[in-house]
Amino acid sequence: MERTLIILKPDAVARRLTGEILTRFEKKGLKLIAAKFMTISKELAEKHYDVHKGKPFFESVVGYLSSGPSMVIVLESANVISMTRKMMGATFGYTAEPGTIRGDFGCSRGYNLVHGSDSPESAAYEIPLYFKPEELVEWEFSDSGWLYGRD
Ligand code: RTP
Ligand code: MG
Repeated sequence: MERTLIILKPDAVARRLTGEILTRFEKKGLKLIAAKFMTISKELAEKHYDVHKGKPFFESVVGYLSSGPSMVIVLESANVISMTRKMMGATFGYTAEPGTIRGDFGCSRGYNLVHGSDSPESAAYEIPLYFKPEELVEWEFSDSGWLYGRD
């Protein structure tokens, strides 16, 4: 089963949107298997965005991610990465499509509310930055037949 790391970034927390955003993922039928409310340190943010090291926006995005508390979660489902990336929308709020999280809740370029792993390889790198293996909770939905049935 595929897993992804999602971060409700400091602007989502400060703007009191964590419930709205979590609700979207829950209603979609994605399984929450870990959650942590924390202020991400600059060092951890640098590791998180290591793939962007050297790019002009690296320092700024590290500063943003570590600027206040975030809600860090892990979601699990088949195809969870492509589904959550679609639900998040394009990178910047002012270009993200209506109906997406970034498209519905933000206009800013720099503050885009959510992070989601963009590939299984990214998820495998990112999840252990925030969670120990024993913090990932294995459990079953009672209605998984309805959610995932009929292929
Ligand atoms: P994220 O990693 O946060 O989920 O966002 P993403 O995949 O949609 O975008 P990515 O290309 O990975 O960029 C990471 C974060 O860096 C900021 N950014 N600024 N050209 C720019 O000024 C620029 N490009 C990216 C955004 O905050 C983006 O979320
Ligand atoms: Mg990214």
